[in-house]
Amino acid sequence: MNELLDKIETSYPALASAAADWRYQPEPGLLAGRNILVTGAGAGIGAAAAKSFACYGANVILLGRSRKPLEDVFDWIEQHTNTQAVIVPCDLELLDAGATHALHAAISENYGILHGLLHNASRLGPKVPLEHYPIEEWLRVMQTNVNAPFILTHTLFDLLDAADEACVINTSSSVGRQGRAYWGAYAVSKFATEGFSQVLADETESAGRIRVYSVNPGGTRTAMRKAAYPLEDPATLPSPEQHMDLYLYLMAGSRSGKTLPATGAQLDARTWECQ
Ligand SMILES: NC(=O)c1ccc[n+]([C@@H]2O[C@H](COP(=O)([O-])OP(=O)(O)OC[C@H]3O[C@@H](n4cnc5c(N)ncnc54)[C@H](OP(=O)(O)O)[C@@H]3O)[C@@H](O)[C@H]2O)c1
Repeated sequence: MNELLDKIETSYPALASAAADWRYQPEPGLLAGRNILVTGAGAGIGAAAAKSFACYGANVILLGRSRKPLEDVFDWIEQHTNTQAVIVPCDLELLDAGATHALHAAISENYGILHGLLHNASRLGPKVPLEHYPIEEWLRVMQTNVNAPFILTHTLFDLLDAADEACVINTSSSVGRQGRAYWGAYAVSKFATEGFSQVLADETESAGRIRVYSVNPGGTRTAMRKAAYPLEDPATLPSPEQHMDLYLYLMAGSRSGKTLPATGAQLDARTWECQ
């Protein structure tokens, strides 16, 4: 185990133990000086990604809805890393041009440019047949999972484009690649996520500065998974930390020292292979 993992063994044992089996073994300082925005950074996969990015040197912009979990992640980063994190309390359901322009100004003033954008926050919505799907819920899921990532990317695009290399990760799902009964707006929103990812990748490919991926975490031990499968034993699922080598590898880009998946690639956290 390297020095970095020794350091977090007591403060973040889940990451330290997961790292032993990672397919990609990052060097300490892999993301030093990189600025990365993570949505839904207060819990689950987003919290693990925010803390992992900070562990490897990135300044993380922690965007999320509930302030307390964001503060907990922020405090951990402050205490255990030498990076500059910031909290952006924001309900993506209410995201509008005014809020994103304020966010643009804050990132621009504090960090100058953006090297990474992890669209991670999502709303699950009810699992009911389309026939009975509440229209209001449909709109809320679409706003959080589809419209908000577009608005964020649209507004922050010039900050990403100003970086020598940047990475956008869009978080998908198995039901966004093959539709499944009763997954309603969530499944449809994840198909839109795939479409968004492909269009953005195609538009940015020739300039070669921004790489865009869609990542399906697959069943992972989080509150959302528990809400979707209340009877499942969480111990049978991988932890968010077990997927963090993929997120670090993609965000690191050329610094990873590895061949990268082509921009626009669809990846699965459970089955991807490090080149
Ligand atoms: N876990 C799985 O098995 C699984 C499988 C496939 C795909 N995914 C995808 O992976 C991503 C992360 O999921 P997760 O399992 O880590 O979920 P999670 O544990 O429920 O965490 C979701 C995070 O998103 C935030 N969020 C939700 N709605 C928001 C809003 N309107 N504005 C701002 N933040 C909001 C939540 O904040 P609050 O604390 O305020 O609610 C929470 O921090 C999602 O895109 C999900 O679709 C997960």
